[in-house]
Amino acid sequence: MTMRSAICSGTFDPPTDGHLNIVERGLKLFDRIIIAVATNTTKIPMFTPKERVDMLRLIFKNEPRVEVDTFNGLLVNYTKKRGVFTILRGIRNMSDYEYESQMALANKTLAPNIEILYMMTEGKYAHVSSSIIKEVITFGGSGYGMIHPIVEERLRKKLKVK
Ligand code: COA
Repeated sequence: MTMRSAICSGTFDPPTDGHLNIVERGLKLFDRIIIAVATNTTKIPMFTPKERVDMLRLIFKNEPRVEVDTFNGLLVNYTKKRGVFTILRGIRNMSDYEYESQMALANKTLAPNIEILYMMTEGKYAHVSSSIIKEVITFGGSGYGMIHPIVEERLRKKLKVK
């Protein structure tokens, strides 16, 4: 039997509970999920690729069906390199939809054999984003229900917030 795999790509700066939820739900549909951390994006990240990978590996250390990797350059080239042609992403609202549909069409033009699947985020994560969480922690709020305790600890350290 062939193994069904999917790539969950993103910047993950930092990973949120919304991202983790997509991976966990993805494991019900796929035998293996490769979390692919983009190293060069148009965003200026707070965490280095290694720091983002370390957080995700720690979070999924007891889940052998999750692999955490990084990629440089185009996502479609990474899918070819890995021989995995399904991409799984989360979608929260209409602005995600617009951004994602543009990206999906561009990726499909570059590599017609890939398939991109979208999972609607669970309601409790609809407002969560990496930027929002950075702001919450910066100004002394709690990340409870939005980020994993490992992410909160690393974020507090990075932002020098107690
Ligand atoms: N629940 C909660 N939040 C979510 C979420 C979910 N299910 N899915 C995404 N988000 C949030 C993230 O927190 C993040 O918030 P931010 O904008 O405040 O930082 C934002 O939505 C999107 O981040 P992320 O999921 O990490 O993905 P991204 O859009 O930064 O990543 C890449 C996009 C890296 C996959 C894409 O740019 C890429 O493939 N780059 C490689 C180059 C390439 O191939 N370019 C051509 C593409 S056509």
